[in-house]
Amino acid sequence: MAQPLTIEDLRIMAKRRVPRMFYDYADSGAWTESTYRANEQDFAAVKLRQRVAVDMTNRTLASTMVGQPVAMPVALAPTGLTGMQHADGEILAARAAHKAGVPFTLSTMSICSLEDIANHVGQPFWFQLYVMKDRDFISRLIQRAKAAGVTALVLTLDLQILGQRHKDVRNGLSAPPKPTLMNMLNLATKPRWCLKMLDTPRRGFGNIVGHVTGVADMSSLSSWTADQFDPKLNWDDVKWIKDLWGGKLILKGILDAEDAEMAAQSGADAIIVSNHGGRQLDGALSSIAALPAIVDQVGGRIEILFDGGIRSGQDVIKALALGAHGTFIGRAFLYGLGAMGEAGVTRCLDIIRKELDVTMALCGLRDILDVDARILVGGREGAVKALAGR
Ligand SMILES: Cc1cc2nc3c(=O)[nH]c(=O)nc-3n(C[C@H](O)[C@H](O)[C@H](O)COP(=O)(O)O)c2cc1C
Repeated sequence: MAQPLTIEDLRIMAKRRVPRMFYDYADSGAWTESTYRANEQDFAAVKLRQRVAVDMTNRTLASTMVGQPVAMPVALAPTGLTGMQHADGEILAARAAHKAGVPFTLSTMSICSLEDIANHVGQPFWFQLYVMKDRDFISRLIQRAKAAGVTALVLTLDLQILGQRHKDVRNGLSAPPKPTLMNMLNLATKPRWCLKMLDTPRRGFGNIVGHVTGVADMSSLSSWTADQFDPKLNWDDVKWIKDLWGGKLILKGILDAEDAEMAAQSGADAIIVSNHGGRQLDGALSSIAALPAIVDQVGGRIEILFDGGIRSGQDVIKALALGAHGTFIGRAFLYGLGAMGEAGVTRCLDIIRKELDVTMALCGLRDILDVDARILVGGREGAVKALAGR
């Protein structure tokens, strides 16, 4: 492919370059994948109003997310095993995000550690926390995040029990890959990936290995993590983490207005309307269909962020028009990373920035902060009606 012009171009390139088990890990959803697909497809129901003969000069996409300035309201979402899409993937993605002026969020289940990002990127970043049964480990992880210069903590609430992704089971997903015959045959077709991976020491879960007693290698780690996600997680834990952390707190995985209300009362700074990219509750609403009711419930009381299915700048502007203050992208940047490393994440962000800018202009606006439901055909009601039947 000459020049990737769309996120779909990057996806096709990534599929060629990344070993199947890790490409599939990114490009999959839970069970029948209906919510995963709906996340992308439901954006099509929301239509934009084309406006003409308005001054479109001097445009700006600059905004804030949890009070921090961003060049555009698009952050990189936390994604596990990012360092398996490409060697040192989290470091590369964090660098690309920094150059583009947008936040990078490191997952608890990353390959590169908090300390790796602090040492090799040298810029503030965000950290996503999964709550484990080992609360001492969680306390220490929060202290490590503070020491690494993390400026916002993203607490994920929608993955205390794992929604099954069939492809992962079939592929025997593990990091590093298991040496089964199928895996070895597939790896042999990805020489570029293999060479880069052989050249880095980062091939395990960097935030965990060496920081938990009894977990020194990948095999002890798998049993530890399988056992560790805490199904008892509740709003008291949210309070405990808020107090322990003391900084900007974002609650991720809110899809229901009642939960949004609890989140608003928890004193957190923001929520992310999210269904984990369709990777957890199959049959749940798409994120864009869930957004309006949440905005009705808590809009104006807590910052509302959004993720799920964003593959273009047009998708970003639709989420903003329906009341999100900012957005996150997951697979879009993973495809860029798998396709071309840091340059691919930069390309992904360039594509989205350009689409967002031109779309805003063609909707007749010059400032991203002015985007609201007036840019939607039929206004907010029209979009809500179109989404209701999906
Ligand atoms: C491969 C992959 C791994 C993910 N790992 C995490 C994770 O470790 N923690 C988390 O909170 N969310 C995780 N997510 C969910 C993303 O943060 C985000 O909610 C989702 O990707 C948004 O949907 P999108 O991929 O359609 O943009 C992951 C998503 C993907 C695709």
